[in-house]
Amino acid sequence: MSINYQERTGIITIETLHTMYQMRVDENGFLQHLYYGKRFSADDMTYLYPGYDRPCSGNPDEAYPSRMVSFNVFPQEYTGYGIGDFRINSLAVRNADGSYGADFRYVSHETGKGKYGLSGLPASYGTEEEAETLVVRIQDPVTKLKAELLYGIFAEKDIITRAVRIKNEGQQSVILDRALSMSLDIPFGKWDLIHFHGRHALERQTEREQLTHLVKKVESKRGTSSHQENPFIILCDRNAGEDHGACYGFMLVYSGGFTAEAELDQFDSARIVMGIQDDQFAWSLEPGGTFETPEVILTFTDEGFTGLSHRFHKIIRHNICRGKYQFAQRPVLLNNWEATYLDFTDEKLLALADEAAALGIDMLVLDDGWFGERNTDDRSLGDWFVNEKKIRCGLKSLVEQINAKGLKFGIWMEPEMINENSELYRLHPDWAFAMPGRIPTRTRSQLVLDLSRSEVVDYLYDRIEPLLRENNIEYLKWDMNRSLSDVYSATLPPERQGEVLHRYVLGIYDLMDRITTNFPDLLLEGCSGGGGRFDAGILYYSPQIWCSDDTDPIERLNIQYGTSFGYPVSTVGAHVSASPNHQTGRTTPIHTRAVVAMSGTFGYELDPGKLTAQEKDQIREQLRLFRKHYDLIQGGLLYRLTAIQEDTYEAWQFAAEDKSEALLNVVVTAPRANRPLINIRLKGLEPDGIYELTDESDGYYMAVPSEPPVKEWKKLFTGGALMFGGYTLPNVWGDYPAFQLHFRRIDG
Ligand code: GLA
Repeated sequence: MSINYQERTGIITIETLHTMYQMRVDENGFLQHLYYGKRFSADDMTYLYPGYDRPCSGNPDEAYPSRMVSFNVFPQEYTGYGIGDFRINSLAVRNADGSYGADFRYVSHETGKGKYGLSGLPASYGTEEEAETLVVRIQDPVTKLKAELLYGIFAEKDIITRAVRIKNEGQQSVILDRALSMSLDIPFGKWDLIHFHGRHALERQTEREQLTHLVKKVESKRGTSSHQENPFIILCDRNAGEDHGACYGFMLVYSGGFTAEAELDQFDSARIVMGIQDDQFAWSLEPGGTFETPEVILTFTDEGFTGLSHRFHKIIRHNICRGKYQFAQRPVLLNNWEATYLDFTDEKLLALADEAAALGIDMLVLDDGWFGERNTDDRSLGDWFVNEKKIRCGLKSLVEQINAKGLKFGIWMEPEMINENSELYRLHPDWAFAMPGRIPTRTRSQLVLDLSRSEVVDYLYDRIEPLLRENNIEYLKWDMNRSLSDVYSATLPPERQGEVLHRYVLGIYDLMDRITTNFPDLLLEGCSGGGGRFDAGILYYSPQIWCSDDTDPIERLNIQYGTSFGYPVSTVGAHVSASPNHQTGRTTPIHTRAVVAMSGTFGYELDPGKLTAQEKDQIREQLRLFRKHYDLIQGGLLYRLTAIQEDTYEAWQFAAEDKSEALLNVVVTAPRANRPLINIRLKGLEPDGIYELTDESDGYYMAVPSEPPVKEWKKLFTGGALMFGGYTLPNVWGDYPAFQLHFRRIDG
């Protein structure tokens, strides 16, 4: 058991392989947080916080007349509200009598094997062997508002999850104006905050800032987890890097708007809170009612960002993603979007399928434009009926013909959206979000369906279900191309409009749940204008998410770099597209495009009919290599070897956990005359092991004419040589060359 309770001291200690988490029920019944960090022989950490009389920090009645105790100072597991803690809070409550207050005392706790679940919300899952649950109950003695603090412990993976179940056990309704999933106080240290901001076509860019006494707020008010920020933050030592330094990671398992806030308080302690967006949030909790927050996944390591990422990659792959394709080899697909956009016919699609089959691609995905009268992107969302003017043979026959060529078939949908120019809108105008008396803001000419309404969710299920049942559709790209505004549900009373945003997210989860339950073999790929809803909530239903609409491989280096801090390669939808690139106009070698896309789920998004015979041969070779190294890439440990944009090349590597092999990837991002040699130190190898090099990119880059060809270079290396001396690349020539170097251990 990883959870230990000492009745005498009131201390609850959670231990994982390398971390320890401790809290204490003090003599007044307050639930104090004591420690989260590196594990050592469990000790009572109460000594860390000797009480002080802090002027202007109030004292609770239980401690009175002592002035040594103050909610404004001592570390807490979950904050109350309105009772003299002036730091950022995790809860805001309006009581029936108009007072703003919640003042919790410990009630009880229990532990159990296995992992708690949340109703209607995605959460990490685990067997009784791999996970345990701790529930700590605290309650306001006056209003009887209870908070059940849920902790899931994955001891071997060094992961602790948190969520809160808020119950109204009183006689009167309360309104939750803020109901976050956790707060964490870290009393000592100097910290940096790393967050992942972005925009459409440039998602998850890393930004690192010193934590100061100003509240730092990382948030999305867009109703989705968003391009703008990602619901994942890191708090790290000021000097932490890839291989060293204390780091805490916080990842919200939620796909709606969110907030993550951090500050240094007046006494230089750090507090971090995270949870659902509180802007436009007000949840009425009736007597007997329960509100469950989404889950936050936490980890700590003193081994820097690499160790932190490895922990998140494992928990997501093993305990968030599910279904047939959790570990099974995913199909390499050809998506027609950048090949045809909306301009296609069944003949064109069949020609693409012929090309794909001849190359050895596994699946053809039919993107936007197959339904209603969708010849331009301002119409027909909502009308999920096949456009037989474009697909004259009908969908069933098209799928059969594609299957007959040896290809699987996948399709695109954007279920949550509606165009005003659609049959659905003409029938149900009130199904779209709009505020009374106002014309709602359009994005890409579309409005958002009110998925907080069960009849809307039912309608969508009733359209999607026959489509999947009647046709052999093995993949569904679930897109969502706008942020939510004008949020107002026609069926909820005015006082409940603050629930709509969260109810909308619950509606999506309900729909996704029905689909994945009834079609367990279907592969879902999440998408939101590219990677605008790339979060652990969506990954519970779809094991991969289209990472960005920007398919330029050089821009993708940035995007995939930032994404890799929290999310494993197996979740990152990435394709080779045409050159010049459709988003940037940049020309890159097809080899480079493939090296970058292979650090993802891999596929193509171009018209192979427009490629040269030589490029087609390269694609066949790319498919062979991707399949050969599939397990290493998807399941191996990822090492970021360069910090993005600090040099004229980017390097990253996969290493098998047993150190038996590694794949080094390098993209040279700028040509240089007379450049210094590029030397890269590998990671994760056995220092005394002997590794044999295979240059998988041989022939796909040009050495500077005076250099010896790479084939004559050294082939055998010790792991120590590669890790401490590094590997020196040949001096290359031309635009954006890329390397893929495989090292296989040959000495047993
Ligand atoms: C979004 C997606 C693209 C594509 C288009 C279709 O932008 O991210 O991949 O599916 O929609 O309209």
